[in-house]
Amino acid sequence: MVERSAVIAALDAVIDPASGRGLVAAGLVQGLVVGEDRAGFALEVDGARAALYAPVRDAAEAALKALPGLARASVILTAEARPAAAPRTAGLSRAAVDQGRPKAPVPTDRPAHVRRVLAVASGKGGVGKSTVAVNLAAALATRGLSAGVLDADVYGPSLPTMLGIAGQPAYEDGAIVPHQAHGLKAMSVGLLTRMDDAMIWRGPMASQAITQMLTQTRWGTAEAPLDVLVVDLPPGTGDVQLTLIQKTPLDGAVVVSTPQEVALADARRAHTLFQKVGVPTLGLIENMSGPVFGQGGAEAEAARLGVPFLGDLPLDAAVRQAGDAGRPVVLADPSGEIAGRFAAVAARVAAELGL
Ligand SMILES: Nc1ncnc2c1ncn2[C@@H]1O[C@H](COP(=O)(O)OP(=O)(O)O)[C@@H](O)[C@H]1O
Ligand SMILES: [Mg+2]
Repeated sequence: MVERSAVIAALDAVIDPASGRGLVAAGLVQGLVVGEDRAGFALEVDGARAALYAPVRDAAEAALKALPGLARASVILTAEARPAAAPRTAGLSRAAVDQGRPKAPVPTDRPAHVRRVLAVASGKGGVGKSTVAVNLAAALATRGLSAGVLDADVYGPSLPTMLGIAGQPAYEDGAIVPHQAHGLKAMSVGLLTRMDDAMIWRGPMASQAITQMLTQTRWGTAEAPLDVLVVDLPPGTGDVQLTLIQKTPLDGAVVVSTPQEVALADARRAHTLFQKVGVPTLGLIENMSGPVFGQGGAEAEAARLGVPFLGDLPLDAAVRQAGDAGRPVVLADPSGEIAGRFAAVAARVAAELGL
């Protein structure tokens, strides 16, 4: 059992290069969670300096791991857009301090060397959003495009399982080096933290972590830009999703739904959310189509919304088995029926994105 006080002392022994003080004294440690054999927190730093703090993050993590009894440590670097010299006013609530600050500008910076960013969204969890995200990325790669996937689903990151990747990413010159899996570049919020406690994902923290993974991951280089980055968004149409899609420079979105009316109503809300922020919905995909959940609902809904219908994917055990085994079905069975359907979706999406 690790003592919280020991964790705090260990973190305060790591020096903040900007102020010369310990990380805790400098006010950089946010949302500290201490469990039986694990600890994690967000290192919240000024946005302009975020890249400088990657080594500090590593040092903090090493300091935690050096504690006896602590098996797992995770430190998420989150960048907050605020003036570098903003005072941490004692005695004032965080909200009061926030109100005194200039409004954080909506970042317009796109990830470097990424040509197009495509969101895969759903109004509801469990409809196959991640399945579509990884298979669509794989189908785009099959077309000869360089493709990456960013798993931004803070509620249930599933990319590590679906692509068979594990382990914290490496940092190089302050940039995150993405994993490589089946020819895809991949990064998941699930690789940055293995905390079971979803509490640490306050809305702003989630969007900061995702912005960081988006902009500080070396997705492409000047010589070899990434053609398309597929972002697996968290399900739902609440504040977290709204903030996220406002902050993420998206070129288009694909909405996944099952054929049932409840799921379709949620898909409709997802489309409305994209409309609100001016991101084009490239189309609706019906997943788990067939005798169990029905068929045709998404096509009718797409017609009502005036967005393209991209096709349906049958409920098929091979899809789930491939996902569980860490190899998307499009690659596990490249000449199969499902791969053919994804190829058609990929062709349309690529055309819409001008790729
Ligand atoms: N067409 C399909 N046929 C069979 N199983 C599927 C299909 N699509 C998704 N699944 C399975 O359903 C579960 C939920 O899918 P997932 O992609 O994780 O959903 P989400 O990301 O929307 O929560 C997973 O176990 C996945 O393998
Ligand atoms: Mg998912």
